[in-house]
Amino acid sequence: MKFIPYGKQSINSKDLLLVSKSLKQELITTGNFVNNFENKLRKYFSSKYAISCTSGTAALHIALKSIDIKKNDIVIMPAINFISSYNLCSNLGAKIFLADVDKLTGQMTPETVMKCIKINKLKKVKLIITMYLGGYPENIIKFYNLKRKIKCYLLEDACHALGGSYRFRNNNYKIGSCKHSDISIFSLHPLKSITSGEGGVVSTNNKNFFLKAKLFRSHGIVRGKNHWEYDVVLNGLNYRLSDINCSLAMSQLSRINTFIKKRKQIYQHYIKNLIKKNNNFNFIHYDKNSSSGFHLFLLSLSSQNRLNKKNLMKFLFKNKILSQFHYIPIYKFSVFKEKVNLNNFQGAEFYFKKTISLPIYFDLSKKNQNYVINRIKFYFKK
Ligand SMILES: Cc1ncc(COP(=O)(O)O)c(C=O)c1O
Repeated sequence: MKFIPYGKQSINSKDLLLVSKSLKQELITTGNFVNNFENKLRKYFSSKYAISCTSGTAALHIALKSIDIKKNDIVIMPAINFISSYNLCSNLGAKIFLADVDKLTGQMTPETVMKCIKINKLKKVKLIITMYLGGYPENIIKFYNLKRKIKCYLLEDACHALGGSYRFRNNNYKIGSCKHSDISIFSLHPLKSITSGEGGVVSTNNKNFFLKAKLFRSHGIVRGKNHWEYDVVLNGLNYRLSDINCSLAMSQLSRINTFIKKRKQIYQHYIKNLIKKNNNFNFIHYDKNSSSGFHLFLLSLSSQNRLNKKNLMKFLFKNKILSQFHYIPIYKFSVFKEKVNLNNFQGAEFYFKKTISLPIYFDLSKKNQNYVINRIKFYFKK
């Protein structure tokens, strides 16, 4: 029996066909596939601007440069997060403050952000970075109201949430529409909703951010009338995604609803057959006005359950099931130099002790879903 990973891409013959078509074009980078993919993204999000780039990390870097995050700017982000936001803001010299998270969803909330502002006596917050852990968009409108109240920028790290959406005042909005944020970013890594191999996306309605983003993505170069004339107006990098990658992403984007539908079915199967009526696990209540990208299935062990999550992970590993931690709190890494008071991170500590991610991806068969469920049930019966 092969290992069952927690996530995996799904590639079909249509993907192969479009990628091979891209390879036969005159331009295999900065060509039509890039433009077409970006147009499709704009339509999908209903945002004014969307650009592709080489990774989710590149997308974050581009977004931070567009907002002009620089030395000593105050940035608040969740303590439970992938490390990209932290590393990038550190590299830019920003003052980073971690906010605690809800103990079940693992997500920062407007209340934990306010607590972070109070505890650290922060005066002028420049940016809040939210992250929809697992793909489940939480507190969008509340964060938007908070952003307006304290007059800061709001960046959605939506790397897990491509394909997610939310409802507000009888309207549906896609994550990436940026109707209630300044800028959103996504990853097109193979484990995400759709893939381009490696890749990322920035979406915004702010023309100024878009123009800066485009410049920063390609060396800060502005072209003149003739092809040999150009100027460099800012210190950009090369974060361009090739047409080969964009062709794969375009093909995948055309199937995004199918991908999300299947992930939702797997989520519901776990809930019905593993979580409901089982007091070994917490049922995680997500925002009813939001619809997830179902990137992760978070299994939250209940507090009365004394079993160590690492032992469960070891047991699953022996049974060829690869579970994962998403994520180790940022303040536990060596790269994080400040001392933290763990009393201020009770949500993150609980979440970290109690939560693992189970396999969820398009090609995960019913047989393997049931195998995962039965192995876990067996573990708790022992
Ligand atoms: C929340 C989050 N942000 C940023 C990233 C970075 O994306 P990439 O791996 O495409 O650079 C990831 C990737 O896993 C992520 O999960």
